[in-house]
Amino acid sequence: MKKVATVGFGFMGRMHFGAWKKARGAKVTAICDSNLAQLKTAKAGNQAGTDTTTDFPGIEIFDDFDAMIQSGGFDIVDITLPTPLHPSTCQKALAAGYHVLCEKPMALTLKECDAMLAAAKKAPGQFLIAQCLRFWPEYVYIKQLIDSGRFGQVKAGDFSRFAAAPGWNNNGNSWFLDESKSGGVVFDLHIHDADMVNYLFGMPETVSSRAHVRADGLTDHLSTIYGFANKVITSNVSWAMPATYLFGSEAKVVFDDAVAVMNSKAKQPLTIYPAKGKPFEPKLQKATGYEAEVLYFLSLINGTVKSQILTPDDARSSIQLVCAERRSATTNRIVTLAKR
Ligand SMILES: NC(=O)c1ccc[n+]([C@@H]2O[C@H](COP(=O)([O-])OP(=O)(O)OC[C@H]3O[C@@H](n4cnc5c(N)ncnc54)[C@H](O)[C@@H]3O)[C@@H](O)[C@H]2O)c1
Repeated sequence: MKKVATVGFGFMGRMHFGAWKKARGAKVTAICDSNLAQLKTAKAGNQAGTDTTTDFPGIEIFDDFDAMIQSGGFDIVDITLPTPLHPSTCQKALAAGYHVLCEKPMALTLKECDAMLAAAKKAPGQFLIAQCLRFWPEYVYIKQLIDSGRFGQVKAGDFSRFAAAPGWNNNGNSWFLDESKSGGVVFDLHIHDADMVNYLFGMPETVSSRAHVRADGLTDHLSTIYGFANKVITSNVSWAMPATYLFGSEAKVVFDDAVAVMNSKAKQPLTIYPAKGKPFEPKLQKATGYEAEVLYFLSLINGTVKSQILTPDDARSSIQLVCAERRSATTNRIVTLAKR
């Protein structure tokens, strides 16, 4: 049984807590949040399904990360802290010998990503950045369609995510709304689709992006065309929706002989429209993306992983991609991605 210490018990801390509860072979034995009132507040975010527990019998409670690390007695540190704390806490937990799962985005700079990778290289534990879309049932199916070649080659793809600016933790003053902390919509929300583009098609040669920046400096909309040979891949992301608009994501992948259409707001979120035959709604994996990602991390730790889905280097590449998109939007130029 692997013992898990979760640090940062806001929206995603609760989401991970629920996923760990369902994972056979692991249990949360410690929780840390600098604001202990969070433990009594069942918080919602942009996804349904957060755990609403407010009583934690048998779980050690900390309000200080360093004190929790020193106390020990667990195997895994699960980091669901605000983004600026990802680099330092990952490095500390890795250096202390723990397996570390950390929420996306990995960090806001490549320098920080590289320091995290260097710490992981020296450490005995496993390290994973929770790019959850790679484990999301609809995207798992789309990846299988691409890899199998069932409907031929991909000609085009379009990926989008639209939401109001995050307001679940704020009272009007959220860290998400400070570009220097969250990276704005580009690093916080678009990282999901950037990582999916990276996962499905590899890194593009170029990016051409345009952004809308609010008067207070927060980037709240970005559109990108990715430069690939023989296929057209685009994405749009927004935090500019009114608060009445509920979060939604869409993906369309156009093959030679079919199109796969994902719409998170639809009753059946994935439909395949083949060139021949009737549209169909494929049977998808039952586990949510968050549950499947936790199970994948456990399989890395237990040495039972079946196929490689995500590495810390992949997460770093996706940060490289969003850095290039931000540079393209800022300079109004096409940016060529440096090969590593
Ligand atoms: N994968 C996804 O779908 C997804 C969705 C939302 C957010 N996220 C990511 O998850 C991370 C957390 O986001 P969130 O929405 O849960 O934020 P949040 O603000 O709701 O929660 C953060 C928690 O960390 C606590 N905290 C802050 N500083 C601390 C410290 N020094 N020590 C201990 N606790 C501290 C806060 O009190 C709060 O409870 C972010 O990096 C965000 O980008 C991922």
